[in-house]
Amino acid sequence: MTGVVPEAIEAYAAEHTRPGHPLLADVAAETLATEKAHGMMVGLLEGRFLETLVWLSGARRILEIGCFTGYSALSMAAALPPEGTIVTCELDPERAAAARRHFDASPWADQIEIRIGPALDSLRDLDGPFDLVFIDADKPSNPDYFAWALALSRRGSLIVVDNVVRGGAVTDAASDDPRVQGVRRSFDLLKEEHRVSTTAIQTVGSKGWDGFVLALVVGA
Ligand code: DHB
Ligand code: MG
Repeated sequence: MTGVVPEAIEAYAAEHTRPGHPLLADVAAETLATEKAHGMMVGLLEGRFLETLVWLSGARRILEIGCFTGYSALSMAAALPPEGTIVTCELDPERAAAARRHFDASPWADQIEIRIGPALDSLRDLDGPFDLVFIDADKPSNPDYFAWALALSRRGSLIVVDNVVRGGAVTDAASDDPRVQGVRRSFDLLKEEHRVSTTAIQTVGSKGWDGFVLALVVGA
């Protein structure tokens, strides 16, 4: 992956970022040790960013599409009010089990619910509106996930889409990578979607961050 942000700057920023809840470091260490695809994990800088978004938005109901081992949900949970909740969707039962273990070891065990199975099935059973939606699952389905996020939102909801740069590959119109194609299709849809105000942030480091879209729902 092409790093847009020089590695030394990313490392410096991480070194000068106060860690979140101590459990997060344990989740990261276990995921690094046990998951080949550990690069999919939201790391320290993005985790703290998500936490900030929850504080800023005052979100009480959060929907996450793509739980992985729970780092991002735990990062967001830290900023929830006591009555706040997160519903997080995970395809892989083993990853869901690992995430559940981490949630149960946290102060937010009762506030986080995991829906196991294809997210497109789980989403059908949910009632909105959610205040914040974080999309971080299989990239080919991003256009569908975005449509669901909008359907389950209200005016003022914030939709965050992870990994929209694909290490720079997003600009390759001829890419045969279905993940790149999924991201590109969702950008095409976003451009025509008048119900949201969006921006794409290109925080691409050597690991972890791979850009994201912030979409604020401004229309019904
Ligand atoms: C991939 C997915 C992610 O959610 C991520 O943060 C990084 C990489 C991937 O599918 O390659
Ligand atoms: Mg991601």
